[in-house]
Amino acid sequence: MSTAESNSGLTPTEHAHIEMLSRHYENKRSACVEVLKYVQTRYKFVADHHLSEIANLLAMSRTELESVATYYNLIFRQQVGAHVILLCDSVSCWIMGRDKLCAHLRQHLGIEPGETTPDGAYTLLPIVCLGHCDHAPAMLLDDELHGDLDIKRLDELLPLPTEPRL
Ligand code: FES
Repeated sequence: MSTAESNSGLTPTEHAHIEMLSRHYENKRSACVEVLKYVQTRYKFVADHHLSEIANLLAMSRTELESVATYYNLIFRQQVGAHVILLCDSVSCWIMGRDKLCAHLRQHLGIEPGETTPDGAYTLLPIVCLGHCDHAPAMLLDDELHGDLDIKRLDELLPLPTEPRL
């Protein structure tokens, strides 16, 4: 989806799909998480104008939907890169060296957590426990969960620039 497309409203096809999703629930507002996820699959994030449009379609206030969207840390409210790295920063991963991995990513991507590389390839985000503590440190790379990470494994999973950028 291009930036121009993500700046425009939802398409008639997307409206129809949202209607279809909301029909699975007695109260259509109950479909809100599913609808937010659907819109995110289309645009990679849920823009402000899309949030307002979804709220109208689901008969919710914008504030109600905003509070749902910000509660779920897998719903992105800002543009993200082509690949999203969600590196766990909870206790087991922290004990098992996630800070070293984070430093490696920061250095080679040239960004801080919460930022996207200038070429739009990667966004680096912290995330709370992924439920993979027995394989800490862990991360979600896009939709895939990876555990038992070390720098070698990170470099295999992500074609990082070899020269540090920071
Ligand atoms: S603490 Fe990182 S997966 Fe649980």
